[in-house]
Amino acid sequence: MSSGGARPKVVVCKDLGPAMPPLLERKDVDIVVWPEDRSCERAWLLENIKGAAGVLVLLPDKVNQELLDAAGTNLRVVSTVSVGYEHIDVPLIGAERHTSWLYADVLTEAVADITIMLALMAGRNDGVAYTLVKNGEWCKPNLGWSPFTFCGPQLSTSLSSPTRTVGFLGFGRIAQATLSRLIPFGITHCIYTGSPTSQPDIARDDALQAKYNLKGLNRVDIDRLARESDVLFLLTPGGKETYHLVDAAFLRKMKPMSVLVNTSRGSVVDSDALATALREKWIWGAGLDVVEGEPAITSNHPLVKEPRCVMVPHIGSATFQTRLDMATLAIDNLIGGVFGGEMPAELKR
Ligand code: DGY
Repeated sequence: MSSGGARPKVVVCKDLGPAMPPLLERKDVDIVVWPEDRSCERAWLLENIKGAAGVLVLLPDKVNQELLDAAGTNLRVVSTVSVGYEHIDVPLIGAERHTSWLYADVLTEAVADITIMLALMAGRNDGVAYTLVKNGEWCKPNLGWSPFTFCGPQLSTSLSSPTRTVGFLGFGRIAQATLSRLIPFGITHCIYTGSPTSQPDIARDDALQAKYNLKGLNRVDIDRLARESDVLFLLTPGGKETYHLVDAAFLRKMKPMSVLVNTSRGSVVDSDALATALREKWIWGAGLDVVEGEPAITSNHPLVKEPRCVMVPHIGSATFQTRLDMATLAIDNLIGGVFGGEMPAELKR
């Protein structure tokens, strides 16, 4: 808390639009908001966080020793408008500062939606086809309707391909929400990897298999995941444990007609290896919402140059509804933490 009975200060690293009025109307906190429409400058944050009781951060705002030192001992809560927390040194916060850190977990459905979108776009040549139309090239003589032009692998089952296997690297909430969306496509098999430290949840898997009438739903090792997936969804947390799990060796094992979709963290994939895999046709296509090194991605990036790579700029949760929900929840966490009240989405450690 702020010393001397003053109102506690909270620092907000970005104007959260329609979620802000209830916060700004509060009379019991001093609110300092980064005033510009771009990521918060580090120097500004280090200066303004001095003496703060709470800070609300976004993915680009690193929460580390430097920031905690700048904040001082009043800091009670770090709230982030994200479900991912690679930008936050969680053990440091918990161990040294006795500070709660909170997260907003309301984006499952929005990310599952865009995951399906990217699977379809990457499989069905959207990068090539859309660019061509935008460039006014549809009218070219060889680009009228023809049987196999622009073809790609079908997500759903078909007469000639009656089984389809979807794979998940990570099988948490978003993966399961994605699977539920895939069922109407006639998906027959689902395989997934779990974290090495987690136990298989056989009862859950049996229930999901029965509910969705799948021919198989199995936890497998990473080698089998690579070899058997027709469409592979990366939905695992980032960080050291999953760094470059999808590398050249992994990609070499995948089916030539397979599609890879990453809506988790760019660090899970070795970008150079994926670009090679696309160029040399080890796999068919890739749909990416996240890329290592984002947002510093230019037209020279090896993946941007690949025609069968569809890339969007980390917009998985970018619906008006979900972003409002995320921002509101993060603010509720912030205020709850500052006053020692309820924190609706506290990270359980
Ligand atoms: C998150 O919250 O971690 C997501 O990546 C944002 O879409």
